[in-house]
Amino acid sequence: MKALVLAGGSGTRLRPITHTSAKQLVPVANKPVLFYGLEAIAAAGITEVGLVVGGTQAEIEAVVGDGSAFGLQVTYLRQEAPLGLAHGVLIAREFLGDDDFVMYLGDNFIVGGINGLVERFARARPAAQVMLTRVGDPRRFGVAELDASGRVVGLEEKPVRPRSDLALVGVYLFSPAVHAAVAELKPSWRGELEITDAIQWLIEAGLRVDSSVISGYWKDTGNVTDMLEVNRLVLESLDARADGRVDGASELIGRVVVEPGASVERSRVVGPAIIGAGARVRDSYVGPYTSIGAGCVITESEIEYSIVLPRASIDGVGRIEASLIGHDVEVTPAPHLPRAHRLVLGDHSKVQIRS
Ligand code: DAU
Repeated sequence: MKALVLAGGSGTRLRPITHTSAKQLVPVANKPVLFYGLEAIAAAGITEVGLVVGGTQAEIEAVVGDGSAFGLQVTYLRQEAPLGLAHGVLIAREFLGDDDFVMYLGDNFIVGGINGLVERFARARPAAQVMLTRVGDPRRFGVAELDASGRVVGLEEKPVRPRSDLALVGVYLFSPAVHAAVAELKPSWRGELEITDAIQWLIEAGLRVDSSVISGYWKDTGNVTDMLEVNRLVLESLDARADGRVDGASELIGRVVVEPGASVERSRVVGPAIIGAGARVRDSYVGPYTSIGAGCVITESEIEYSIVLPRASIDGVGRIEASLIGHDVEVTPAPHLPRAHRLVLGDHSKVQIRS
């Protein structure tokens, strides 16, 4: 079995914090969301991975390389434009050959990996196997309709009137039967070759499409509340490790990771929390469910239940909570006069100020 990982996309689907970089590289507990997918694929015993990339290829290639760090052999498949998930399958035709494959969307996060799904597919050998999860707003997803026995009878992409609350999760297993379906597709109303249409084609051709319902699913939507929550979830499973320098005047409580080259001085860090490589925490408090990115500088400040992206600095400010702070951001106190806030905020930023 091979894997096809989709990490293309145009970068024009804006989200608050990452619209300048690949959304598959949004960090969860200081690790790009894409890495969790690659690790899950390797853990399922798959080694050959086709990685579909678009305009952000250089950024992705810089961190994934040839895949050997994950125990994988990665082949880059360049998609000239984001013409749809099924278009990704189309351009991977030669790479995939006649093998079964798992298709994994690079911005999806699945708690607990994919071993069980891959084993189930190998045992049952349906034409396709999809994963579903209950969501609050199915209109933002592909939606499945099941019969009484749990077999998929219909699929619809981003329906205006969803027939169920079961959304398609971005991990699909396919037999080579899918290629005939993909070859027949026409672009949808949104101009994309939809994988949902390919699966619908398989159903209509009388082929078997299995499904399983999971919980523990997250996808990068740019929603900060959801991001903080998935960060919390992953930090929960962290094992304490202090590879950096922690001075005698500091206290690490609970599960805290201090990555290599990081330093903690005269500070208190209450886990689960992670202090990224090369970051400096001085005279500060870092509270539970916080990820401090690589190269950040936190001085005389307090922060809790937050994500701070690489190289940001927070200096001399009171308590920060439930916040997402972007790359290279500087947070500093204001002078007493004039009594005004001075802000330089990127597009789509959100700020809450107590005046
Ligand atoms: O995340 C689950 C959802 O993913 C499913 O419920 C939907 O049925 C499915 O169509 C898909 O919906 P989205 O519209 O949210 O997919 P998105 O455009 O965000 O793309 C998902 C990943 O695939 C992302 O990592 C970018 C990559 N991609 C996307 C397109 C359209 C490509 O590599 N090439 C593409 O052409």
